[in-house]
Amino acid sequence: MLDAPDKPRPPDPCSLVIFGVTGDLTHRLITPALYNLAESNLLPSDFCVVGIVRKPMSAAVLRKSLIDGLHKYSKRKINESIAARVFSCLTTLQADPDDPASFDRLSDELANAERERRTHGNRLFYLATPPNAFAPIARQLGRTGLLKEEHGRWRRLVVEKPFGTDLASARRLDDELHKLMDEHQIYRIDHYLGKETVQNIMVLRFSNGMFEPIWNRHHIDHVQITVDEQLGVGHRGAFYDGTGALRDMVPNHLFQLMSLVAMEPPAKFDAHTVRSKKAELLSAIQTPSRDEALRNSVRGQYEAGDINGSRIPAYRATPDVRPDSVTETYAALKLTVDNWRWAGVPFYLRTGKALARKRTEVAIRFRHAPLAMFRSTPVESLAENYLTIGIEPVEGITLQFNTKVPGPTVVTDGVEMKFRYVDYFKTEPKTGYETLLYDCMIGDNILFQRADGVEAGWQAVQPFLDAWGQAGHEGLVRYKAGSMGPAEADKLLARDGRQWRSAA
Ligand code: BG6
Repeated sequence: MLDAPDKPRPPDPCSLVIFGVTGDLTHRLITPALYNLAESNLLPSDFCVVGIVRKPMSAAVLRKSLIDGLHKYSKRKINESIAARVFSCLTTLQADPDDPASFDRLSDELANAERERRTHGNRLFYLATPPNAFAPIARQLGRTGLLKEEHGRWRRLVVEKPFGTDLASARRLDDELHKLMDEHQIYRIDHYLGKETVQNIMVLRFSNGMFEPIWNRHHIDHVQITVDEQLGVGHRGAFYDGTGALRDMVPNHLFQLMSLVAMEPPAKFDAHTVRSKKAELLSAIQTPSRDEALRNSVRGQYEAGDINGSRIPAYRATPDVRPDSVTETYAALKLTVDNWRWAGVPFYLRTGKALARKRTEVAIRFRHAPLAMFRSTPVESLAENYLTIGIEPVEGITLQFNTKVPGPTVVTDGVEMKFRYVDYFKTEPKTGYETLLYDCMIGDNILFQRADGVEAGWQAVQPFLDAWGQAGHEGLVRYKAGSMGPAEADKLLARDGRQWRSAA
């Protein structure tokens, strides 16, 4: 992500080495993003894609599968000559972490492919694999010297989420990776940081002088972060049942939103400073006791229901999900941040699957006016002042305030002032991975998670994971697929005299 109004600089020559090249992520997101970069002339001129396969597969077969994927998943009209250009440099090499000798061969073969493509030995290794393969692959890459940076050549490793499954496992993975490479070589992806609307949170806060003076406990009553999804767990039962909504969404995506909204202003717009401020914010989240964690959280699981006219089976009836599973598909938390800016301001977070609609937003609720001078309108019936940052599907910013209803008497009503990206900017549809891939190629890790940020995230959710793990069935509530989620999530706020912002 460039902090410059001029033209983006071309990335260095490099090879992109993808582990998990035959998988869903590569087909759905990585190769469509590569195509979009090529269309914007943002791929290096000397470039090659190396697909690592476990079983023999020719480049032609892989190329066809990726081009088919591009047609299926890209939201843009495909120009065949650009697609051909992107994939003409594709080669396949065979390597399997269970067969260390294959990595010795990979080392030589990769060097040959790179010579042909004049990529100067710069390598971007992308682990688009299941998480249990991250460490074994990294170990082999380290052992064979493939990660070694020397003679001005860079070597970078992109690690997908989830990074660990709890604080202890994230620390173990970090320790393991740090034995093999330096932190600056590790690019931990959270695709939320690839979203324009998420990147815009920093611009909104720090390029406008009017927000900072009111961005604190004196003026903000509370903050709501909502990531509602319509999709159920579908074919991801095996992964999801061992993961759940909290692990899947909160320490990563919701905490990215929370840290951008709540962090202190960084003195500089660089990776070190911004990531330090974000990690500092996450480390200031108060650690609740077991009882507090249970009291300040809701976990739900969906039952069968209808969404857009289709029947969604109950979570427990999903393939590869245990029939007595206590894995949550919905999580709501009340968190507090122990610092001078936010003391006493609750952050309410919620996320769930199989809900009535897709909605991702951050809603900042300002305090009420101290008194209402209009006799007919008591202060509690004034509309609430919200600044809402819409991430998806509505991309934009909305300010809600009171205004006088035209007429002879003073009657007030809440109205909205709206900014929508589509009204101002013409952009081609993106996957969100373009900026992230481009940043990996220019060596800018501002939009990637640093080890301390990931660990602070796990640290903040660990008390909830522990409390829920011990509680088992107890406290797990049900909600119907296609509903707005469990009523208990409303009670979490009602208890404090508050309510979730209703969707427009
Ligand atoms: C992924 C989760 O990281 O994010 C999925 O594993 C979830 O379960 C997805 O559906 C949500 O992403 P988005 O961009 O659709 O909000």
